[in-house]
Amino acid sequence: MRKQHSSSCSSHLFPPSSMMMMMIIILFQVCSAQNLINSTCKTLAGSNPNIDYNFCRTSLQAAPASQCAALQGLGMISIRLIRYNVTDTRCSIKQLLRNKRWDPYTRQCLNDCFDLFSDAIPSVKEAMKSFNAKRFDDANVQITSIMDASTTCEDGFKDRTGVVSPLTKRNDDAFRLSAIALSFMRIIQTRSA
Ligand SMILES: *[C@@H]1O[C@H](CO)[C@@H](O)[C@H](O)[C@H]1NC(C)=O
Ligand SMILES: *[C@@H]1O[C@H](CO)[C@@H](O)[C@H](O)[C@H]1NC(C)=O
Repeated sequence: MRKQHSSSCSSHLFPPSSMMMMMIIILFQVCSAQNLINSTCKTLAGSNPNIDYNFCRTSLQAAPASQCAALQGLGMISIRLIRYNVTDTRCSIKQLLRNKRWDPYTRQCLNDCFDLFSDAIPSVKEAMKSFNAKRFDDANVQITSIMDASTTCEDGFKDRTGVVSPLTKRNDDAFRLSAIALSFMRIIQTRSA
């Protein structure tokens, strides 16, 4: 009698419990997508000394829809972040150049950086196209050129003692975001090979 009661009870419970199961599965998928940012950034940071786990995690997490993205999508997001960043940096250099207080050397460096970041914008657009078309070798060259631009820009200021770069953080962000995008492509390429 007792046994029968318990089995009828569990059969009543079946529909709601399967709904619960669905919810758990959905929740798990949401969490595992968030975990993908964490776990991927951990992998990237472990394989590349230029990548900092927290920088990677906070950068990707701040991007719209990154929580739902799979690996390929996160790779694209990482390139899009470079695009926003270098576009904003170019604009900020333009504003800095309006200021008359720069000494001639610093002004020349800023002009050079302006040209470098002006070229970086079409490069990152090309990189997005290459990435979408799975032409990873091309995307690699294009992202590497952005990394080089940030280094060249920063080195200009370093070449003369007493000159302080007003773009250190921005160059550093562009460099580090590019390192992340390059590592993403390496992982995606190895997994699809
Ligand atoms: C991701 O890692 C951060 C700290 O590294 C942690 O606070 C957060 O809860 C983690 N998120 C998930 C979904 O595991
Ligand atoms: C550039 O990237 C850094 C690092 O993710 C971020 O803190 C900064 O807000 C970004 N700037 C823009 C304009 O997207």
